[in-house]
Amino acid sequence: MLKEEKIRRALGVDLPLTCLDVCDSTNLRLKEMCRSGDNSVQLLCAGSQTNGRGRLGRSFLSPEGTGIYMSLLLPLPKDDLPLTIRAAAAVCRAVEEVTGQTLHIKWVNDLFLRGKKVCGILAEAVENMAVLGIGLNVKMPEEGFPQVPIAGALEAECEREMLIGRIAFHVLESLAENKDSILALYRERMLLTGKEISFNQSGQERSARVLGVDEQGGLMVQTKTGTEILRTGEVSIGSNQLAALE
Ligand code: BTN
Repeated sequence: MLKEEKIRRALGVDLPLTCLDVCDSTNLRLKEMCRSGDNSVQLLCAGSQTNGRGRLGRSFLSPEGTGIYMSLLLPLPKDDLPLTIRAAAAVCRAVEEVTGQTLHIKWVNDLFLRGKKVCGILAEAVENMAVLGIGLNVKMPEEGFPQVPIAGALEAECEREMLIGRIAFHVLESLAENKDSILALYRERMLLTGKEISFNQSGQERSARVLGVDEQGGLMVQTKTGTEILRTGEVSIGSNQLAALE
């Protein structure tokens, strides 16, 4: 069971916080609250989720005791650097601070360690706010992630409360931060720069080489026909290439 007091201490700033043992989806709960009129900046976390949601309609496995499932209701960033880019950088900072581990980023906001995805981020708009959901695998569940061969875990000796508190702290701090320092960290941790990727555009499978990330967090790629910038969606890289990246 998560201890609310420990999260508060790790957070170190005043932020309304709710901790549930079980929840369907912390993102869904905060969106519902916001729609029903409670639009205060707040943090909701759960010990497990029965309907954890991922990007592009996927589900996010959220077993008890091994992971972090947290959502923040936030104002939208004031500049043109998306919240997801800020959040990816913030989670990298928090994990490094708490465990000493260096995560790498697969555009746009999947976080990897030793070639495995350990963290996913789902940002959703609601009213004039955003719900930012973060799922981080701290330990590998006994049964593993049989449906998700790419999934891994930090396998670090640390308290989940400490990670939750520090992640929330760094996300909040990143909202007021100049985008240059966030982009610098993001670019340094990018897994895909220089790599061959594929992506789907209007039903067509295309390939390209990654050049980097632009000032608005778009993925700059070199295709057969020229340079393009991808703003949404997902890109793929061969699993053998991914395993060999770090
Ligand atoms: C992804 O990898 O596609 C994003 C996964 C996001 C999972 C988190 S866990 C907390 C929050 N609640 C959800 O239902 N999803 C996000």
